[in-house]
Amino acid sequence: MISLKHHIFVCTSCRINGQQKGFCFSKGSVDIVQKFMEAIEDNDLSGDVMITNTGCFGICDKGPIAVVYPEGIWYGNLSEDDIEKIVEEHIMGGTPVKELMI
Ligand code: FES
Repeated sequence: MISLKHHIFVCTSCRINGQQKGFCFSKGSVDIVQKFMEAIEDNDLSGDVMITNTGCFGICDKGPIAVVYPEGIWYGNLSEDDIEKIVEEHIMGGTPVKELMI
């Protein structure tokens, strides 16, 4: 049985035809996915946290977007530099990063 503590969805503007085009992709969201994966690995959280890249959430002007479940916290306007803070304060510390929430 899979028992995650968090599931993080990151918009990489994936389209149903397999193309990656769109605002979040153009603003570096693939690098953001990579940064999340590195932070999860570095903090030995692989068994507790899953990262999934997604298609458009429909709020592109606030992208890049990440959504953290089970809390349902939405983060926007993300850059690579924000990811460590989200992992340390929210995922590990249990306190969502208010200034990055949308
Ligand atoms: S492309 Fe990411 S929210 Fe639309």
